[in-house]
Amino acid sequence: MKDQITHRKRRHLDVCLDPHSGVQGKGSQMEKIRLPHRPLPELDLQDVTTKTSFLGQTLQAPIMISCMTGGTEEGKRLNQLLTQCANDVGFAIGTGSIRVMLRHPERQEDFALKKWAPQVPVLANIGAAQLEEYSPAEILQATHSLDADALYVHLNAAQEMFQQNGDGNFSSWKTNLARMIEQAKDFPILVKEVGAGIPPKDALELLEMGVCMVDIAGCGGTDWVAVESSSQDSPNKDFYHWGYPTAELLWAYRLLMKTNSDWAQRLQGKIIASGGLLTALDMVKALGCGASMAAAALPFLQAAAQGEDSLYNFAHQLVAHSQTAMLLIGAKNPQAIATKNLHAESDLCSSAQNLIAEVLG
Ligand SMILES: Cc1cc2nc3c(=O)[nH]c(=O)nc-3n(C[C@H](O)[C@H](O)[C@H](O)COP(=O)(O)O)c2cc1C
Repeated sequence: MKDQITHRKRRHLDVCLDPHSGVQGKGSQMEKIRLPHRPLPELDLQDVTTKTSFLGQTLQAPIMISCMTGGTEEGKRLNQLLTQCANDVGFAIGTGSIRVMLRHPERQEDFALKKWAPQVPVLANIGAAQLEEYSPAEILQATHSLDADALYVHLNAAQEMFQQNGDGNFSSWKTNLARMIEQAKDFPILVKEVGAGIPPKDALELLEMGVCMVDIAGCGGTDWVAVESSSQDSPNKDFYHWGYPTAELLWAYRLLMKTNSDWAQRLQGKIIASGGLLTALDMVKALGCGASMAAAALPFLQAAAQGEDSLYNFAHQLVAHSQTAMLLIGAKNPQAIATKNLHAESDLCSSAQNLIAEVLG
C-alpha cells in the first residue's frame, strides 16, 4: 500500500508538471469577472496594504499555497522550498495529504513544515475518505505532532471515482466529518474541495456543522479527474472539467452576500477561493466576491519546479500586483475590495443565480 500511495504521489507531480498532460482544466472563467477601474483612486500606493490576518497570524497578503505534496523525496524537497517561500513572503501553506504519514510514521518529517514556517499558519491536510480509516483521535494526534495550526479536510469524490482503487462509498463522509469536528473541539477544521467546487448551499451546511472556513476550490484549474484518468491506457474524457467553474461559484457567493445580510453574516470571513487562480488579478477578483483568502496549488508548483528564484519572483509579484490592482480600484486594504462594484458577464450571472436558488429554496 505504501508503495502504491508513494507511486501515485510521484506520478501526480510528474503529470501536473507535464505541460502536455492536459490536466489544466478548461478555465476557471475568472476573465468573466472585471474589477472596476477608478480614474481618481485618491490613494497613495504606500498606504495600500495587502496585509491580513488568518488563523490568528498576520500574512503579507491573503494568499495560501494550497495542499500538494509530501511522501516522496522530490515531494519533500518541493515542500521545503514552498514552505520557506511561504514563510519569507508571508503566505499560509497547507501540507499534502498526511495519509502517507499516518500509515508510515517514518515519513513524518516530509510533512513537518512548521520548522520551515514558524511565522505563518501551516495547515495539515487529510482526505474525507481517511476519516473512515482513522479515528479522530489518531488524526488529531498526527496533526498536533506536526505543530500544525489547523486541519484542512479535502472532499474529493470525483477524484476518488477515477482513482485506481479509489473509494466509491461516500455514505459516511458527513457523519465522520461531524465526529471529527466534535472531537477537535476548538481546534480549527477547514474543508476544501480539490477542483470540483463547493457551492453556497453546501458551504453553509459545512459552516453550520462547525467547520471554521470553506475553500470552494472550483474547477478550471488542476483537473483531478484528468490527473487520475491519465494513468489509464485510453482515458475516457467525459468527466473532465467536472464541477462548478470557480468564477461561477464566486459570483454566486457575492450575490448571496449582497442580497441577504443573514447569509452575508454567515459567510463573511469564512470563504477561501481557489481552483485555477493563476494571477494576482484572479486573486483580487476572488476577494472582491467576498472570499477572505485566495489559494493556488499548481501555479506555485510550476514556479518552484523552475527553481528558487522563479518561485520567489512569482510570490513577490503576486503581492506587488495585488497592491497595484487594489490601488487602481481604490481599495486601501483587502477588506475594502469586496465593497467595490465588480462586473460579471451575463451568462456567469445567470449560472450563479441557479446556485443561489438552491439556497433560497
Ligand atoms: C501536485 C498536486 C498535489 C496535490 N495534492 C493534494 C493533497 O494531497 N491534498 C489536497 O487536499 N489537495 C491536493 N491538491 C489539490 C490542490 O490543493 C488544489 O485544491 C487544486 O489543485 C486546485 O488548485 P489549482 O487549480 O491552483 O491547482 C494537489 C494539487 C497538486 C497540483
